[in-house]
This record gives sequence, C-alpha cells and structure tokens, in this order.
Amino acid sequence: MKKLLLKKQIDAFSKKAAKTAHPRELVVDLLREIQDRNGWVSDEGVELAAQILGVTTIEIEELATFYDKIYRQPVGRYPVHICDSICCWSRGGEEIALHLQQQLGVKLGETTPDGLFTLLPTCCLGGCGRAPSIMIGRRFYGNLSTAELDRIIEQLREEANR
Ligand code: FES
Repeated sequence: MKKLLLKKQIDAFSKKAAKTAHPRELVVDLLREIQDRNGWVSDEGVELAAQILGVTTIEIEELATFYDKIYRQPVGRYPVHICDSICCWSRGGEEIALHLQQQLGVKLGETTPDGLFTLLPTCCLGGCGRAPSIMIGRRFYGNLSTAELDRIIEQLREEANR
C-alpha cells in the first residue's frame, strides 16, 4: 500500500517542528504535502500530521476544514474552484459556473465519472482584477469566457491522456 508520506518527508517536517515554538504554523504545508502525494487528506493523513507536529488531531482538523484547498474527501485529478464572490459574480461568474456544469455533466460539489474534474464553489481567489476567474488545482485562470473554458478543459483532458 502506498505510504501517506515518504520517510524523508516525515523526517523533514519532524525536524522543522522540533525547531519551531509553534508547530501549528506547519500544518497547512504538511497537509499540502500529504495531499500532493495522495490527492486528498484522509483521516489517517490528519492523524499522521498530528503525530509529526505533536499537536492534536482537532487542531489539524480545524485548519484542514478552514482552507478550502485542502480536500478532506477524494476529488478528481483537477479540482476546479469556481469563484462566486462579488467581482466574479458581477462579471459573468454565474455563466462560467453554469457552462462548466453543462459541459462536464456534473453539478457543483460533484466529480465527473472519469474522475478528472470536481467542481467546487469558492470565495474570492484574489484575482478580482481578472474576473471572472477560477483555479484548477494551483493554476489560476482569469478573464474567462466560455470559449476559453472549453479550451482549458480540452487541454487538461489531453494532458490526462498523455
Ligand atoms: S471575486 Fe473572484 S477573484 Fe475576487
């Protein structure tokens, strides 16, 4: 079975945790590392993070549920964060969300049957000047049109098939 983290990753975070007075500062970085390796953060991942940092699982859970880019349930290979805050909403964000749902055949919160895309509404992505915008994984896309969206989805499908 695949390990949640490699030994060298565990050792690196354990060393950092020993050197800091506030190991909680490392929680998000550590959860991201677990997520990058596994696609999401399971209960076992939360427990492992707590052990490595010497904090409680509740402390880990609080931060994991606060950050919507940490996934506590399995998601598709490309989690699509669709901004629904005011700038994006007023510049066509609703149309973008609708178009994605129609093109991919799933509703917000769902994953496509091929396991590629999960649609997730999110608050401001910090790119209001380029609204409407989305984030796919850690990639930001702004000034979106439906045609541009189609191109991005197509490109990611091709990437996944390589
Ligand atoms: S409102 Fe969408 S990026 Fe800020």
